[in-house]
Amino acid sequence: MTVINKLNDGINRQLCVAPMMDWTDRHCRYFHRLLAPSALLFTEMVTADAICHSEDTERFLAHNVAERPLVLQVGGSKPEKLHKAIKLANKFGFSEFNLNVGCPSNRVQSGQFGACLMLEPEIVLECLMAMKEATNKPISVKCRIGVDDMDVNSGLDNFVQKVSKSGISIFYIHARKALLSGLSPKENRTIPPLNHERVLRLAFENPEKTIILNGGLKNKVEIISKQSKFHGVMLGRAAYKTPFILAELHSNATGKPLIKKCTIARKMADYADNVIEQGGNLHQITRHMLGLFNGESGAKYWRRQLGEIARLQPRNSDLIRETAALCRSKALRKVA
Ligand SMILES: Cc1cc2nc3c(=O)[nH]c(=O)nc-3n(C[C@H](O)[C@H](O)[C@H](O)COP(=O)(O)O)c2cc1C
Repeated sequence: MTVINKLNDGINRQLCVAPMMDWTDRHCRYFHRLLAPSALLFTEMVTADAICHSEDTERFLAHNVAERPLVLQVGGSKPEKLHKAIKLANKFGFSEFNLNVGCPSNRVQSGQFGACLMLEPEIVLECLMAMKEATNKPISVKCRIGVDDMDVNSGLDNFVQKVSKSGISIFYIHARKALLSGLSPKENRTIPPLNHERVLRLAFENPEKTIILNGGLKNKVEIISKQSKFHGVMLGRAAYKTPFILAELHSNATGKPLIKKCTIARKMADYADNVIEQGGNLHQITRHMLGLFNGESGAKYWRRQLGEIARLQPRNSDLIRETAALCRSKALRKVA
């Protein structure tokens, strides 16, 4: 089964990096952007309340233009709040706004948003309509294939059909159920079984919709194969833990030469200089880069320097440059 993309909104969704709280902050996104210039990046989830009531909206929404195209993921279930939040966010230059209907944490459930909304498609419909009215940018949904004892066949079809009445047609689907009681958010990303086939069937039966597959994708060959079957793929943990896969996938999709890890490291050190000058510290940046040399002989050394040592040297961006040079020579020695 191969699905052909009908959407023509100028956004390339072949390779997306998932929203991840506490992980995909602006420094992480800058790093991912260097690795994959063609990828569509997502913010961490920001609640509509935080956007509407914060004294400092900038803190949640400001980003480096280099991160774009960038999708803002919002959480909420009150149409008027979401409307206001998107209005406020409009001027920040996001390419798309995404509603979180997939996150199963207790905090999210008590606020009546996230994955529990899969059981309330009418509310999601109203939310999406309100978001749509607030912007001319695309609106999308990120959801699971179901929650609790919801039927993954009729339940997902019903959800997608109902919320599509808003006119939105872009769905990022984490291909496993969320179990709303008894499992931690982390367990909810591993214990419910993956069902890529279910998402593929949804895409095949709804060719007018843009369906992006998410969940458990980490093998390059498998990902490339899925990219040809779906409108795109969304990587979460693999992008974070083995970030160089983003560069490999970008190179594969565009035919451009693979960027060198040392080049990425140099550019991140230059970026760190700016962040440090503005009052930030080195570890805020390097904590996202620990997996860059995974699979190479210098990987452990890199992780230690950028993890533990970076904490002790908060203004020393040369730590990135020098460690990358050493990792490179370790790798060369191994080859020689
Ligand atoms: C640390 C972490 C934080 C996450 N935060 C969010 C979030 O804010 N919003 C969301 O929709 N999903 C969130 N997720 C779920 C991911 O977006 C993704 O759907 C999930 O990890 C499955 O993809 P993967 O198997 O490629 O990691 C988070 C995942 C992780 C690991």
